[in-house]
Amino acid sequence: MLNFELYNPTNYVFGQNQIEKLASLVPANAKIMLAYGGGSIFKNGVHAQVTENLKGFEVIEFGGIEPNPRFETLMKAVEIIRTEKINFILAVGGGSVIDGVKFISGAVNYEGDAVDILKKRILFKDVSKVIPFGTVLTLPATGSEMNSGAVITIDATHEKLTLGGSALFPQFSICDPTVIQSLPKRQIQNGVVDAFTHVLEQYLTFPQDALLQDRISEGILQTLVEIGPKVVENPTDYKLASNFMWCATMALNGLIQKGVASDWATHMIGHELTALYEIDHARTLAIIGPNLYRVMFETKKEKLAQFGERVFQVSGNTIEEKAQNAISKLVAFLEEMGMETKLSQATTNYEDTANFIVNRFEERGWKAMGEKQNITLEKVREIVELSY
Ligand code: NZQ
Ligand code: ZN
Repeated sequence: MLNFELYNPTNYVFGQNQIEKLASLVPANAKIMLAYGGGSIFKNGVHAQVTENLKGFEVIEFGGIEPNPRFETLMKAVEIIRTEKINFILAVGGGSVIDGVKFISGAVNYEGDAVDILKKRILFKDVSKVIPFGTVLTLPATGSEMNSGAVITIDATHEKLTLGGSALFPQFSICDPTVIQSLPKRQIQNGVVDAFTHVLEQYLTFPQDALLQDRISEGILQTLVEIGPKVVENPTDYKLASNFMWCATMALNGLIQKGVASDWATHMIGHELTALYEIDHARTLAIIGPNLYRVMFETKKEKLAQFGERVFQVSGNTIEEKAQNAISKLVAFLEEMGMETKLSQATTNYEDTANFIVNRFEERGWKAMGEKQNITLEKVREIVELSY
């Protein structure tokens, strides 16, 4: 196992009616920006609950943060915070709103050109330089409610880039599983698949003597296999909803990646598909993931076999056979979760995608990805072409 530090300061407040604690979680002197997305929080009553519990605080609202939040939109919030001297942000929404707020939090006091936060991947480590924020989660998927990463799209250049740093953990996140009742089926499917893939990015590498991390990962995967298809059909079932929400957080709150080398190339390639074609984040992962495992089979076959045996109970006479069966089971699960697993099913005019992505990665100097840094540009091309 590799050496590690485990730091996670987010106060994770989980369960029904926990929004009632909001006023005690927000700092007493807070002048708050309430940041949200396209308006789902007005339809499902979350906005009313939030404002009810923020009575007495000065609140300025900022709506319109898009799914795949845009740099250009977020900079408008940055300006408002500067002029209004706002000292706390409350993100009310899914991964996009929370990610957007992380960017805003870092950008307000950033002294250079704010686009460099993304282009140069500036790390925020000094909590005194960022605007503190909390979240009210409305969509279990990304884990953004308990991690310090974010993904932002620059509209002008159609780039989807990451930022983060230890200063960008939410101070608190209120996670009430009943919020999933108003989610469209498609978003619940996305949430399950995103969380599932987050575990695979950290677990499906090579044997690394991290026995506990493996077992925790397999526990999350098994739970998602058990509840995923059911929660899509029964979002009002609290047992399903609560386990779904907790799995999604546990999949990307930093715990299972401690002490191991992780992959993340499925995400890096997937982000390009969203930037190019606006395909939902999780759906890009379903297209790329299985093909990445096929192309990187030699590197990953031991873990693929373990994944197959422990999560899907596959059999086989050799490691290779079990590993192949694991990929087939994974594809079947993704399809059961309503995913398309080919780019041609999700968009048209995709023939030049591999060239485009390889050129972009080359420009950015991303020439060696994956847990062994052996996903070269040639491998990226192969993975994307196999995904057509
Ligand atoms: O904008 P509103 O009106 O709120 O509607 C949203 C949006 O249209 C809607 N929604 C959210 N909660 C709802 C609801 N509708 C009804 N009832 C509710 N309770 O769902 C739509 C999608 O929301 P979004 O926030 O975009 O989805 P998600 O949580 O899947 O976030 C996706 C974004 O997170 C990034 C992705 O790249 C993508 O930009 N990721 C962030 C990560 C992180 N910070 O750690 C890791 C992930 O791998 C991912 O890359
Ligand atoms: Zn993801």
